[in-house]
Amino acid sequence: MTDFSPIRWLGDAVEVLDQRELPWREVWIRCGTADEVAECIRSMALRGAPLIGIAAGYGVALAVRGNGGPARLREAAEAAARTLGATRPTAVNLAWALERMLRVVSAAVTSGRDPATIRRRAESEATAIHEEDVAMNRRLGRHGAELLPADGTVLTHCNAGALATGGWGTALGVVRSAVEAGKRVRVIADETRPYLQGARLTAWELVRDGIPVTVIADGMAGSILRTGEVHAVLVGADRIAANGDTANKIGTYPLAVLARRHQVPFYVAAPSSTLDRNLADGSRIPIEERPADELCVIRGTRMTPPGTAARHPAFDVTPAELITAVITEDGVFRPPFAFDRRGGGRG
Ligand code: MRU
Repeated sequence: MTDFSPIRWLGDAVEVLDQRELPWREVWIRCGTADEVAECIRSMALRGAPLIGIAAGYGVALAVRGNGGPARLREAAEAAARTLGATRPTAVNLAWALERMLRVVSAAVTSGRDPATIRRRAESEATAIHEEDVAMNRRLGRHGAELLPADGTVLTHCNAGALATGGWGTALGVVRSAVEAGKRVRVIADETRPYLQGARLTAWELVRDGIPVTVIADGMAGSILRTGEVHAVLVGADRIAANGDTANKIGTYPLAVLARRHQVPFYVAAPSSTLDRNLADGSRIPIEERPADELCVIRGTRMTPPGTAARHPAFDVTPAELITAVITEDGVFRPPFAFDRRGGGRG
């Protein structure tokens, strides 16, 4: 698992592990166009904020493989970025990666490079986004590992693991780094209704790694936190505003409230590509509203009577005041957070 990545660049295509099929089957989808990558993001074949950004980068690299001169390739990159950028609104890593890709393509075109060079530069930028993500996760993992006890239990929500990133993971990267450092860490994974990222994906990757994992229904977290057996709640993020307000999978906010109530530290682990330094606070983070059927229909079986209304906001925002620390590759930041400034907090 150490080197596991749910996405691989093949030179003329990108291959992604279809996470809708886990834990039942390991199916890889080959995408030869930016539109195919966009469809994988939209349909949740791949998910997780950093992985969405990485896939979008490869999508733009695929878009400039088409025919035409430099101006045509720049148009193709911009069109691909518009399509990819419209897939899922909450993860800021998506816009961040697309901006990086467009900057590189545009610079190559403006400085008069030929199509082959433009393609090569786009490809190496996309690969760099992927490799840097893994390196950031390793670094934030080491910072976060120091916060965990030598023998302890971590409660997590959704999947912020290798499957959600280029590899290693954010919240689960902290767990992996702690285990690597010789700590004994057990994970309690919220199942994460309605998409079951915890039950299906977090459990899948931790079992593969031999890290003890116990799945619970989301509604069990409160009474388990009350017992005192959990040493830390550790989650990932889709977007962190300058003041530390954090958007993450729906159900994270109530967990933060419960953690405060029971005096358990609540940690957010994310690479700096998840910081939205331009957004003062979490009130304007766009929250994706997904189809209600994802809640009402479980593997083809409708669980609610016809005519029942349902809501499916896919993320919530945890106010900074409930967050004990944000862990990035640059260190451990404690309130008051100021991610619009260099340093990001007291550190
Ligand atoms: O809807 P998803 O599965 O893309 O949501 C994923 C999460 O909420 C993760 O916690 C977040 O993206 C961080 S992944 C390192």
